[in-house]
Amino acid sequence: MKKIMLVFGTRPEAIKMAPLIKELEKRENIKTLVCVTAQHREMLDQVLDIFNIVPDYDLDIMKESQTLSYITSSILNKIDKIMKKESPDVVVVHGDTTTTFATSLAAFYNKIKIAHVEAGLRTYNKYSPYPEEINRQMVGLISDYNFAPTKLTANNLIEEGKDKGSIFITGNTAIDTLAYTIDEDYYDENIEWVGDSRLILLTVHRRENIGKAMEDIFEAVRKVLEKFEDIKVIYPLHKNPEVRKYAKKYFADLDRVKLIEPLDVVKFHNLINKSYLVMTDSGGIQEEAPALGKPVLVLRNETERKEGVESGTLRLLGTDKENIFKNTCEILENEKIYQKISSSKNPYGDGRASEKIADILQREDI
Ligand code: UD1
Ligand code: UDP
Repeated sequence: MKKIMLVFGTRPEAIKMAPLIKELEKRENIKTLVCVTAQHREMLDQVLDIFNIVPDYDLDIMKESQTLSYITSSILNKIDKIMKKESPDVVVVHGDTTTTFATSLAAFYNKIKIAHVEAGLRTYNKYSPYPEEINRQMVGLISDYNFAPTKLTANNLIEEGKDKGSIFITGNTAIDTLAYTIDEDYYDENIEWVGDSRLILLTVHRRENIGKAMEDIFEAVRKVLEKFEDIKVIYPLHKNPEVRKYAKKYFADLDRVKLIEPLDVVKFHNLINKSYLVMTDSGGIQEEAPALGKPVLVLRNETERKEGVESGTLRLLGTDKENIFKNTCEILENEKIYQKISSSKNPYGDGRASEKIADILQREDI
């Protein structure tokens, strides 16, 4: 029996690992263990509840305004004992968070094989996104099996000198998750509030945007609201207190903006599905929204989701307020442009990534 331990700690990792956990649990010759670091607490628990995942281990590390060094050192200290006790054949990590990096380092110290889901995404800019670009490059150095979502991400790894035999193109498990969450008849209080208006779904949380960039983004959104009376904005706030401070400063007084607590993933995915446009600095939403035919305005200077930009569904706007305002107006005003974007092809797979990854992890030579 092969023992596979999946480790994750934040909301997006959980959302994208959930279908893989479900898939591995179906396989008879695999023992699946789940360890959460709880780098996020409430936002992680929301996902665990929805998917009925009960972790075997919970490191429970989160504290308010935690630093990167704190996250790294507390995970390293706590997970080492678990790896020694369980001695799994493979540790599976996801993406580019500090949980991903610290867990991979601990697995390397214990000479346990590392499988990296969502491997090969790159901007090659050390500070953008920060610290995710370096997290994923460091994991890329020590990983044994690399599940790249697309050809482009696989090529990044090949060009970096990774062994071709260690790289598998699988699609992104985010698309698999949509099959669990999306219901075309879905209706709830948020959708009711939107009514006949056009909804802009907004999320902004990145560390590198906190401060001036966030203020510029929010000013641009305010200008859009002044110009278009049929627009409403829903912004589920990240739990980070810094993010909340800025959001409340810019939006608390506006009737057509709803600032709400983080939504569970079923509510959130269905809200994307009912939206007109998505404005975000998130990573995962750049994959989900194209699969649901929604244009995404990316509020970052760089994106590692270059396939989405090439396919036309993502527009990389940076954080300059005039540029954000101009591009948003163009899409809201021009039906032809809107239709062209929303009919672009989703480049992130066919919803069978978890199945492909589980097939590979099950192989005898792995
Ligand atoms: C983390 C990841 C980022 C990912 C994001 C997804 C790192 C360094 N960053 O960033 O890559 O895009 O998650 O959301 O790995 N908090 C709560 N409750 C929660 C979650 C967060 O109160 O459920 C608050 C805490 O005060 C915490 C702060 O948010 O200290 C920041 O959380 P942290 O995980 O350090 O950073 P994120 O910005 O969430
Ligand atoms: N998400 C959610 N509820 C929300 C906002 C986002 O479930 O209120 C989901 C979203 O669908 C995506 C993931 O959380 O799957 C993205 O998380 P986040 O933006 O925090 O992280 P990133 O993808 O930027 O790492």
